[in-house]
Amino acid sequence: MNISIFGLGIIGSRCADNLAKAGHSVTTWNRTPKDRDDSVADAAAAAKASEVLAFYLKDGKACRETFESIRPALTSAHTIINHSTIDLDTTKWLATECEKLGIDYLDCPFTGSKVAAHNGELVYYFGGNTEVLEKFRPVLEVTSKEIIPLGKVGDATVVKIATNLISASTVQALSEAMAIASAHGVSPETFIPAVTSNACGSPLAAMKLPTMASGDYDTHFSLDNMRKDSVFARELANEAKLNTPGIDATSEMMTKLCDQGLADLDYSALYKQFDA
Ligand SMILES: NC(=O)c1ccc[n+]([C@@H]2O[C@H](COP(=O)([O-])OP(=O)(O)OC[C@H]3O[C@@H](n4cnc5c(N)ncnc54)[C@H](OP(=O)(O)O)[C@@H]3O)[C@@H](O)[C@H]2O)c1
Repeated sequence: MNISIFGLGIIGSRCADNLAKAGHSVTTWNRTPKDRDDSVADAAAAAKASEVLAFYLKDGKACRETFESIRPALTSAHTIINHSTIDLDTTKWLATECEKLGIDYLDCPFTGSKVAAHNGELVYYFGGNTEVLEKFRPVLEVTSKEIIPLGKVGDATVVKIATNLISASTVQALSEAMAIASAHGVSPETFIPAVTSNACGSPLAAMKLPTMASGDYDTHFSLDNMRKDSVFARELANEAKLNTPGIDATSEMMTKLCDQGLADLDYSALYKQFDA
């Protein structure tokens, strides 16, 4: 298929590579131009080059702006697959605008990070028409190991935001626990295996604790992107009149650390709140 990728950040760049390797004709666009043979400078030109338009953009604002810049090039022959984690309002807005233009819209965020994207092993959450999903399954399978249909458009967005709340809160809890252990003379070498064998251990704990202990904050998923997802979670909670003190506190801590210049580090830099 002809596929255009919008957004060549950590994930989009790796998915574009895998789709090209699988034999698809790939065109890419990034707001800040990238030195790639398949890149075009104009978003509308990227839209004209392909029927399948896949977004791996930062947030709702990025998706709305990109959608407006490609709108003049859109026809009913296009399908838009949004993989970005965005707010629910923007998901609904994109779906409505696509419907007006006779375009299929797939609400298709993912879990999995830099390594999973490199290996073509993301897990896609899917909201929308499953007949359309089946049509594009072969494309989605190039970049993923699993596709989970969750319901209507918007449901995948909500699940993605809710599960990121769990990840952010978990890393905040891991940070607090390892800081307490260290302050009382228990080294990370002792603490980490104890967590691994505990019911509270998890793939996320196994991934993040060793790098946090060694001060390696190489970015797999940025603190700024986790911060914005916590804002989406708080918006969903407010809309439902729910109090969510845990994610409120973690969100505020992430905002504080971003303001201190840590925004582009991995979100496990939450542990740096305990730096002396
Ligand atoms: N990394 C992960 O582990 C992970 C996991 C699950 C979900 N996600 C989600 O997947 C999406 C992409 O993640 P990522 O890690 O690849 O993000 P990233 O590295 O921060 O890349 C963000 C991309 O969005 C573009 N962008 C930002 N603002 C824009 C705007 N106003 N208009 C047009 N483009 C804009 C950036 O372009 P510039 O280069 O010009 O800034 C860049 O291409 C995000 O929604 C993220 O939350 C990521």
